[in-house]
Amino acid sequence: KDVLRKNLKMVHGYPITYAFANNLEKCEQFHSRPDDIVIATYPKSGTTWLSEIVDMVLNDGDVEKCKRDVITVKVPMLEMAIPGLTISGIEQLEKNPSPRLVKTHLPIDLLPKSFWQNNCKMIYLARNAKDVAVSYYHFDLMNNLQPLPSTWEEYLENFITGNVAYGSWFNHVKSWWKKKEEHPILFLHYEDMKENPKQEIKKITRFLEKNLNDEILDDIICHTSFGMMKNNPLVNYTHLSNTVMDHSKSPFMRKGTTGDWKNYFTVAQNEKFDAIYKKEMCDSTLQFRTEI
Ligand code: PPS
Repeated sequence: KDVLRKNLKMVHGYPITYAFANNLEKCEQFHSRPDDIVIATYPKSGTTWLSEIVDMVLNDGDVEKCKRDVITVKVPMLEMAIPGLTISGIEQLEKNPSPRLVKTHLPIDLLPKSFWQNNCKMIYLARNAKDVAVSYYHFDLMNNLQPLPSTWEEYLENFITGNVAYGSWFNHVKSWWKKKEEHPILFLHYEDMKENPKQEIKKITRFLEKNLNDEILDDIICHTSFGMMKNNPLVNYTHLSNTVMDHSKSPFMRKGTTGDWKNYFTVAQNEKFDAIYKKEMCDSTLQFRTEI
């Protein structure tokens, strides 16, 4: 398994998961369709959760339809390529019927131009940086495509400096936030989805021009709750070969909460992080809830 674990590779200035790096040229050439819906996130921000919600919304809350396949087939990851193990995200997308859902963690300047040209709708989900760092650390422990983290302390340093796959969290969230001034991007927060899923799902239905009644919204909330998704083999990533993900190291569906960072950050780490956060975010109007 450790054979897969390779250092990140720099592509156009961004550190990218080694297995995907050679695929980015193909991604650049990707042909979008005007009704593609892009689900964009920095890793570990709740992408899988949002993906299942959007699939439910498009299928009018029909759980049986949403069980038609695993999440990686229903919502392929654009840049994903694991030669010899599975078909690539692009190959899967080419097979999928419209309207297609496209998952990506790409920084905004690496997103294929075709999506902008076609004015495709995009939903961006952002999550509190500290919780992302903790979630990412555990993910890198279990995901054999990523460099193996050493200590949490060292990992946090790498996270802060953007020396993790897809680069700096700060740049990612800020640039997607800015882009929504000129492109149809619905910008959501993980913390809001946890606190008031109905309100956030309503934003999604409006954005996608769907009209779903209250009962259907409740069904969607129930089907996509953390407990349900953790136990749903179609979305909890246990369908992937354990050569790729080893859930015994840390499950993909780990905790699904806000504020878990408090169990990992020392007081000193937190103070340092807050100071860097202030500096990095001062040129943006994007705000995260500080009480979490
Ligand atoms: S990935 O690999 O980047 O696509 O991962 P991603 O899906 O973005 O993020 C995984 C984290 O999201 C949590 N998760 C959920 N939280 C709440 N509700 C639901 N339904 C849900 N599904 C997944 C998952 O547990 C990871 O967060 P942590 O903090 O590690 O638990």
